[in-house]
Amino acid sequence: MRPESFAFLQDLLHRETGIVMDDGKEYLVLTRLRTVVRSEGLSGVDELVELLRSRPRHPLRRRILETLITTETSFFRDVRPFTSLKEVLIPLLVERRAPSRTLRFWSAACSTGQEPYSLAMLIREHFPELEEWRIKILASDVSSEVLERARTGIYSQMEVNRGVPTPLLMKYFRREGLNWVVNGEIRRMVDFVEINLAGELPKLPEMDIIFLRNVLIYFREDVRRKVLERVAGLLRSDGYLFVGGAETLITHQDLFERVQISNTSCFRPRR
Ligand SMILES: C[S@@+](CC[C@H](N)C(=O)[O-])C[C@H]1O[C@@H](n2cnc3c(N)ncnc32)[C@H](O)[C@@H]1O
Repeated sequence: MRPESFAFLQDLLHRETGIVMDDGKEYLVLTRLRTVVRSEGLSGVDELVELLRSRPRHPLRRRILETLITTETSFFRDVRPFTSLKEVLIPLLVERRAPSRTLRFWSAACSTGQEPYSLAMLIREHFPELEEWRIKILASDVSSEVLERARTGIYSQMEVNRGVPTPLLMKYFRREGLNWVVNGEIRRMVDFVEINLAGELPKLPEMDIIFLRNVLIYFREDVRRKVLERVAGLLRSDGYLFVGGAETLITHQDLFERVQISNTSCFRPRR
């Protein structure tokens, strides 16, 4: 791949999603775009880039972007945020929100849906009293491809093996051939919507809990700041934000205060 082709893809990805693909990631591009190159009968990534240069609105542009994005996820990923919700935060919010009987969660980079479905299962499993409440789980991502998969609620054996405890698998999934399908009750708790965190956000209600995990790491500091400012504005003053285990908000302490709950860190907005 020519350096200009790599630079073109870096720029395209950054403009459209805010994601930074560092120099030295050429191997990643070559591996990820191999299938697109083959299926289009092209000679290589350079020809693919030429096609996009000459026809910027080419339908392949979307597919290329989707292919370059990292969408790695799993059920109950890093488990500790879920433990702190179960042990401390949801019980606390249940008390505080008793008058409105409404709780709103946002999984803001939900990938193929494991994160919001984990939240839905946790709520159903441990808080049966909330069945009478309005529980809204908004799940969004920039990639329409992952959202399409998430909406189907269909997962392979390998995917459920990564994080779904057997009792929950038996209770909230049904077998379909080689796959497992999330049951209707859990699926109905989650609304999937396409939202680009680096673009203008649509009008959203204030949230009690926001999961913004393993996505900030892909943004440059200025984009990260913009995203966090908006997220802070969307979190209720007594709501909580979770970021990924490898992510810190050390340079955003003016926006969020770090709190330690059940062995994990989460963040409260400063107002
Ligand atoms: C590594 S996955 C993390 C998924 C999940 N939050 C987790 O922690 O398991 C990162 C996700 O962020 C999404 N993403 C990347 N840039 C985004 C943007 N600008 N707006 C919304 N989602 C974005 C990707 O499409 C991908 O699904």
